[in-house]
Amino acid sequence: MSSRILAAVAWPYANGPRHIGHVSGFGVPSDVFARYQRMVGNDVLMVSGTDEHGTAIQVQADKEGLTPQQTADKYHRVIAEDLQALGCSYDLYTRTTTLNHRAVVQEMFRTLHDNGYVVAQTEMGAISPSTGRTLPDRYIEGTCPHCGYEGARGDQCDNCGRQLDPVDLINPRSKINGETPDFVETEHFFLDLPALAGALGEWLATRTDWRPNVMKFSLNLLKELRPRAITRDLEWGVPIPLEGWEDAAMKRIYVWFDAVIGYLSASVEWARRSGDPEAWKLWWQDSDAKAYYFMGKDNITFHSVIWPAILLGANGQGDRGGRGSAFSPLNLPTEVVSSEYLTMSGSKLASSRGHVIYVRDFLRDFGPDSLRYFIAVAGPENQDSDFTWDEFVRRNNYELANEWGNLVNRSISMAHKNVGAIPAAGELTDADREVLAASAAAFDVVGELWGRCRFKQATGEAMRVVGLANKYISDSEPWKLKDDPARRDTVLHVALQVVQDCNTLLTPLLPHAAQKVFEALGGEGVWAAQPELREVSEDGAPDYLVLQGDYVNQQATWASRPLDVGRPLVKPTPLFAKLDDTLGQTGPEWAPIA
Ligand code: MF3
Ligand code: ZN
Repeated sequence: MSSRILAAVAWPYANGPRHIGHVSGFGVPSDVFARYQRMVGNDVLMVSGTDEHGTAIQVQADKEGLTPQQTADKYHRVIAEDLQALGCSYDLYTRTTTLNHRAVVQEMFRTLHDNGYVVAQTEMGAISPSTGRTLPDRYIEGTCPHCGYEGARGDQCDNCGRQLDPVDLINPRSKINGETPDFVETEHFFLDLPALAGALGEWLATRTDWRPNVMKFSLNLLKELRPRAITRDLEWGVPIPLEGWEDAAMKRIYVWFDAVIGYLSASVEWARRSGDPEAWKLWWQDSDAKAYYFMGKDNITFHSVIWPAILLGANGQGDRGGRGSAFSPLNLPTEVVSSEYLTMSGSKLASSRGHVIYVRDFLRDFGPDSLRYFIAVAGPENQDSDFTWDEFVRRNNYELANEWGNLVNRSISMAHKNVGAIPAAGELTDADREVLAASAAAFDVVGELWGRCRFKQATGEAMRVVGLANKYISDSEPWKLKDDPARRDTVLHVALQVVQDCNTLLTPLLPHAAQKVFEALGGEGVWAAQPELREVSEDGAPDYLVLQGDYVNQQATWASRPLDVGRPLVKPTPLFAKLDDTLGQTGPEWAPIA
């Protein structure tokens, strides 16, 4: 029976191009998972978009002398192109500056307010003494009261990761001109998390199979829930949909409140674009549907507590009851899948310090599948992990190229040279049966692991079968069987069958290579579908770019299929380029090892 699966992928900020650390957190894991789920026949809806509001974008715009909208336009394009090139198979990758998104956010805000889960409170806000203007949180710097880090920002401390309010900072100063801000009373709207804590706790208690780090972190958060401001003193964001507030120039909905609602608004947009405006409900309202959220660990709070709280409040399911929103009843997350951090040669990737590898540069030189592979086998699945050029070269050359690429290449080349087509098998020996059985059995094992987001283990299991197949060929020595063409053909047949099976096992991870292997074995048409960039319109707003794709009609399915005996073969070209060993010592020109 097929299930409906929402793959909800964290929304990258439109404040610059993304680096490989970002896509190791949300991009590659979500795509491997979604591709596998489609292959087993589940109905996947994979949505995300660019996160374009808030101070991060305002700050970048000021730096570049652009408006926030121009900045969002610029980086939305860059990020969408990069995700496309990486092969991330979104059903819809959109953005938060659409009118649709604004309307959905405002409906959710209004419902929470009507239900009493969003309440106005005054707090101390910072203003600049020299201009009299409000200073957004991110423009304030000071010492973190928790860990003593001197470069903490008014919204959070990058050292200890805690959320902050500007008043919490010791020695606060303006990032613009260094002056000490004045604090004055200002009114904000707060999400009343304590009123939702009971419902949140009950829901969390029903969650099983979360990665232990995520569960532990979330349970801890529950213990110290306080009301949380969901508006900001800022011009760039979704206006507050309440009388008297809609036109306030410097009050906007907090970017995180707006962004998480993107999962819902993007699903609504997808449904509208697919021609069935109600179709999103199948993933959001049917209690059998499942929802998996993918992100880096700095996003956990927002997905395991804040977003579920918003959903509960909008369903009228907290201590104060209430009505359901226009979208309710809405499903809560089934699982929050979070990655740890990818560092580079021992320290955190950071665009601001130039210690960075941009996705664009990487893909241009090394292609998408080698990055996807590295992230799966050596990425931050359960703990922080380090990217080094040396290890990248080693994984690429000795695993992808020597093991998998070589298996494909030598089996197809030999069959092409000796037979010119996929040979039929004669009688099977024990060795033949053994290797065939190993690859057939791997479907259950590897499938279970892909489906549970155990990427490292899944890749290891698939590569183990690749190793067995290489050994089978070396042991069987088909090149010595000139005088026994029947036996030689049997060996080649078995080898090609295992190649085809391994290709299926690796398709979620290596979709670009998988298409090539499929074609090399004589397949026609689309095996693994790729996302496409499309320009779309919205009533009353400028056109914009989205990613979409036709994944339902791809041929990739999760099963061992018999070879098409007799199909002509052509001489294969290498699947993965081997990299020069010196790259491991020097790094590329655009990211030299210091
Ligand atoms: N823009 C945030 C980041 O890059 C992630 C937003 S995820 C969403 O860390 F949940 F808000 F969508
Ligand atoms: Zn701190």
